Amino acid sequence: MSLTGPIFETLRRSSAGAALLEITESLADVHVVGGTVRDSLLGLTPREIDLVVEGQIDELVEGLAARFSGSVTYHDRFGTATVEVDQERVDVAQARTELYRTPGDLPEVNQLSGVSIDDDLLRRDFTINAIAVQLSQPGRGTLRAASNGYEDLVARQLRVLHDDSFRDDPTRLLRLARYVTRLGFEPEPHTRSLVKEAVGQEVMRKVSAARIGAELRLLLAESDPLSGLDCLDRLGLLEDIASAAAGSKTDPQSLVELAWDRQRAKDALSLLPVDGDKAALLVAICLVVAARNSDVSTDLDTLRTWLDGLEFPTRQREAIVSAVIDGPLLADRLAEAQCPSEIASLLSGKAVEAVCIAGALRSQDRARRWLAELRHVKLEITGDDLVAAGIEPGPGLGKRLSIALARKLDGELRGGRAVELAFALNVRDIQGDDDP
Ligand code: CTP
Repeated sequence: MSLTGPIFETLRRSSAGAALLEITESLADVHVVGGTVRDSLLGLTPREIDLVVEGQIDELVEGLAARFSGSVTYHDRFGTATVEVDQERVDVAQARTELYRTPGDLPEVNQLSGVSIDDDLLRRDFTINAIAVQLSQPGRGTLRAASNGYEDLVARQLRVLHDDSFRDDPTRLLRLARYVTRLGFEPEPHTRSLVKEAVGQEVMRKVSAARIGAELRLLLAESDPLSGLDCLDRLGLLEDIASAAAGSKTDPQSLVELAWDRQRAKDALSLLPVDGDKAALLVAICLVVAARNSDVSTDLDTLRTWLDGLEFPTRQREAIVSAVIDGPLLADRLAEAQCPSEIASLLSGKAVEAVCIAGALRSQDRARRWLAELRHVKLEITGDDLVAAGIEPGPGLGKRLSIALARKLDGELRGGRAVELAFALNVRDIQGDDDP
């Protein structure tokens, strides 16, 4: 097979790719580029198809949308467009150069007309992303790459295209961690020294908290987020992430700290049920580990402000907050619980992420048991059954149900609905008007 054979195989496998191969028989200057080429050459399935056109994108976008029946979204800022159907996505961009006027800000599109694919490749983050394959005829299959691009892919290493790359766009440090995690690639020695220099100059502090948050969430969504966090820790980036959107350095109350403990994080993750939030749990464990290692105690408002700055959605923010606040408290209380009903009454209504933190800190077996088993235990009867049997609605009725549930949790109420109903109707220690 030719060098570029895997890219055409990837395209033929998808409906969007097949449509693209037909259209580009008669359209000039279209190239497939970036992650699509990188992943295809590595034998991986790319997440989307990235295209660059040397010239206007409209004909390609409209042709593709018509042939592939996809919906089109134009993104004005960079003059790019996305065509989507179901799970398939094609990103189309005009070849461009970019100018970073202020380090850390998004770049300005400096030039569009007359920019070649070779120029476009040079604006990119790493050489492994600066490889393109021509789709249009004549010359379909021609491979173009920034210097060392193909060689670096084969050698499985990350190399920036120029020495100012991390200063221009410090989020590339987080992208680097993501590629280390996902692809198992390592930075080559010169890039490694540029990383060190950039981290030493605290370049990440020039980036908006929102962009840092977006990159952090992408890293945590990788299939092995633990090695992503290993990498952030190794590179010294956790401190910069903690400083994003945090308050004044002179007020310890307004500081946020993150620290890494792989074993604790692994223990916490091993407890996380499918309805839990992996990213929230990992952020929470870094906050909890830091709080245990230092005297700094972040107040609740500071924590929420920090998470809002990083643009965590409200649900995720609250899962993190409750894991940080409740997790360590629950760890100790859980260790003292005597029976399943006590475990359940301690943990009832708590975020699963908080329980995972408690388990990772101390009470692993109890946390595991509640998450896997006890939180799912329910009575087969409801309040309506008791009302139908003549019990007055009110607090006493709820108490009957909770006493019955506690008995069931402790294994003392077996036999199903009839047994539960008989027990709940005969509960003796109810204070109230409806005592039997
Ligand atoms: N890019 C960059 N600097 C950034 C973000 C993106 O240079 N901060 C470039 C990269 O070269 C990348 C391209 O823009 O190849 C498209 O970005 P993106 O879609 O995020 O990456 P993909 O190549 O699709 O790779 P991934 O699988 O990581 O999404």
